[in-house]
Amino acid sequence: MKIAIAREIAAGEPRVAAVPDTVKKLKALGAEVAIEPGAGVQSGVPDADYEAAGASISADAVKDADIVLKVRRPEAGELAKYKRGGLVIAIMDPYGNDAALKAMADAGVSAFAMELMPRITRAQVMDVLSSQANLAGYRAVIDAAEAFGRAFPMMMTAAGTVPAAKVFVMGVGVAGLQAIATARRLGAIVTATDVRPAVKEQVVSLGAKFIAVEDEEFKQAETAGGYAKEMSKEYQAKQAALTADHIKKQDIVITTALIPGRPAPRLVSADMVKSMKPGSVLVDLAVERGGNVEGVRPGEVAEIGGIKIVGYTNVPGRVAASASSLYAKNLLAFVETLVDKETKAVAVKWDDELVKATALTKEGAVIHPNFQPKTA
Ligand code: NAI
Repeated sequence: MKIAIAREIAAGEPRVAAVPDTVKKLKALGAEVAIEPGAGVQSGVPDADYEAAGASISADAVKDADIVLKVRRPEAGELAKYKRGGLVIAIMDPYGNDAALKAMADAGVSAFAMELMPRITRAQVMDVLSSQANLAGYRAVIDAAEAFGRAFPMMMTAAGTVPAAKVFVMGVGVAGLQAIATARRLGAIVTATDVRPAVKEQVVSLGAKFIAVEDEEFKQAETAGGYAKEMSKEYQAKQAALTADHIKKQDIVITTALIPGRPAPRLVSADMVKSMKPGSVLVDLAVERGGNVEGVRPGEVAEIGGIKIVGYTNVPGRVAASASSLYAKNLLAFVETLVDKETKAVAVKWDDELVKATALTKEGAVIHPNFQPKTA
């Protein structure tokens, strides 16, 4: 069994799908592991470290591979080198990318999307959305602190007192919780909001204050899967009124709000941005899904009247070494379920719920029910 680790070719993608520790564990499963040259460099892993862990370095790593591990979905030029019948596992970004899914089917690979892993106990160790969002939440606060011309903690000095920064976190899922914890560690006064009632207790337990429109709709806002619903126009108007009043007193706003399969909800209007003091900073982690903040620009720091709107994309990639290390462990845990321990060969159990949830393509066809070609 051959496992290959590809070097990412997408611009702005510094992460890698294996680290020396996971290479050793893949080898312990009975695999030969081959790495494309330089695959780990941007995550702080030189080729020599992979070799020391027992991998070989080869420009042809993917050629005969039974399993290719990647961060991003392979493009046509990459697929042309893969073995037909092989597995490729990555963060596939499948929604709205039908042509790319068809290209993987046509290449004859079995493609698996890590972000579709069900959030059940057995698969927690494979949850890439959590492992990456947690680091994004941390980094959002660091990026805010970097863009902010003042200190976060209160400082009482002989030359005077520096007040603590006021940080407001909007959307308290995995990223938001880590943003709250990080901002608290830096000494900020933190408030947070969400539409899911379950969040309130978590916010308070992290030492922050919870602010939300807590009406009847709020009580029903969480789906059985633990995600937020899209809220009614009436709720959005009440939420906007509350937010508008609160935001103008804040120094930093960090937004992370997402709704599965929908564009990100617009939570901060241009007027709300303008109501903030010059020098204030907004960091929008939802920018890749359309953004929570009006005026955010993907990959840029926009400045409006002395207020910065930070719209960095691939924020986990801004903590690349940590993000790669956690992502590599997510992948390893999934690969362990795809290999027969006795024969030390790939043995996909196609009726396993983890496989059914993540498998996009097989034997030339797109097999995932969510991405079936439309019959007009
Ligand atoms: P997400 O990334 O889909 O959304 C981020 C946050 O935005 C959520 O808390 C959501 O409620 C909030 N949001 C959506 N619309 C909003 C609006 N209009 N105003 C304010 N906030 C809004 O969420 P994430 O981080 O994936 O977490 C979703 C849930 O999954 C959470 O309950 C989390 O605890 C749970 N979870 C469960 C896991 C497991 O059981 N294995 C692992 C990770 C998370």
